[in-house]
Amino acid sequence: MTVSSAPGKVYLFGEHAVVYGEPAVPCAIERRARVTVEQRSDDRLRVQAEDLSIDGFTVEYGGQHDGRHDVNVPEPLISAAMGYVDGAIEQVHDVTGEDDVGFDVTIESDIPLGAGLGSSAAVVVAAIDAATRELGLTLETDELAERAYRTEHAVQEGQASRADTFCSATGGAVRVEGDDCQPIEAPELPFVIGFDGGAGETGELVAGVRALREEYSFAADTVAAIGDVVRRGETALQAGNLEEVGRLMNFNHGLLSALGVSARDLETMVWAARDAGAYGAKLTGAGGGGCIVALDPTPETETALRFTPGCEDAFRAELAEEGVKRLA
Ligand code: MEV
Repeated sequence: MTVSSAPGKVYLFGEHAVVYGEPAVPCAIERRARVTVEQRSDDRLRVQAEDLSIDGFTVEYGGQHDGRHDVNVPEPLISAAMGYVDGAIEQVHDVTGEDDVGFDVTIESDIPLGAGLGSSAAVVVAAIDAATRELGLTLETDELAERAYRTEHAVQEGQASRADTFCSATGGAVRVEGDDCQPIEAPELPFVIGFDGGAGETGELVAGVRALREEYSFAADTVAAIGDVVRRGETALQAGNLEEVGRLMNFNHGLLSALGVSARDLETMVWAARDAGAYGAKLTGAGGGGCIVALDPTPETETALRFTPGCEDAFRAELAEEGVKRLA
């Protein structure tokens, strides 16, 4: 039996603009998916998932994907979760050359599903790492990130960026520009996350920004301005200047709002965090709903968010220095 965990992430800067080649800075957070893998004596794949912010479920099926589903959650969620695990195991078969091996896979996660915190990337990274080790192969971090990216790319039909999977595999703060991902230095980042209980539709939100950018030159300028904010943000991170990082997060959020990807609950949570004294606050991920991230070393923002209408959950999450963790 092998066990690996991998962290989720927030975008400190640069979501959406990264789609057009601007840099972005995602950061791994200490909220993890933990995957336990045990090789079976047959070629079946059995997946159990608990604490995925949905009811626990169990799915079992054969190598031909035509088997029985034994589930108690809606089919779209099952399809999504199974797609990721199935894709991860395909990568394991490919990299080990052992394509008729089955596994029992158990997933536990404290990352809200589909809320822009990279839950699927964390599951995929941890699953590939644990299953390859179960077969006696330990992947280098770059190879693990690449295999996890290929999984997300296939499941999301070409819509995945490398940010989530790279960040989850390596941990820490990362600079993403095009296909290039590099770990960067960052000070301790006291993240506070507010979650509205929902999720935006990433494909629609990305398409909306694309349409605005094509229609208005100032929308294209807004995207480019986000790139400028990110570059200034990197300098502030290197200098360990959290106040400046916060100011730039506020700026980044304003530009994302101008591009139409914010939402009422996200705005309410962002303003609650700012009023509570956070250095800065912004939406994180595709927007439309889901999560905001604020920077605040004091307990004030978390407390304020807990009493903010529209905020379903609020929690602290430090920067995860370590990416994938090999637990057993
Ligand atoms: C979504 O988490 C982040 C976006 O920038 C899309 C992407 O980079 O693939 C909106």
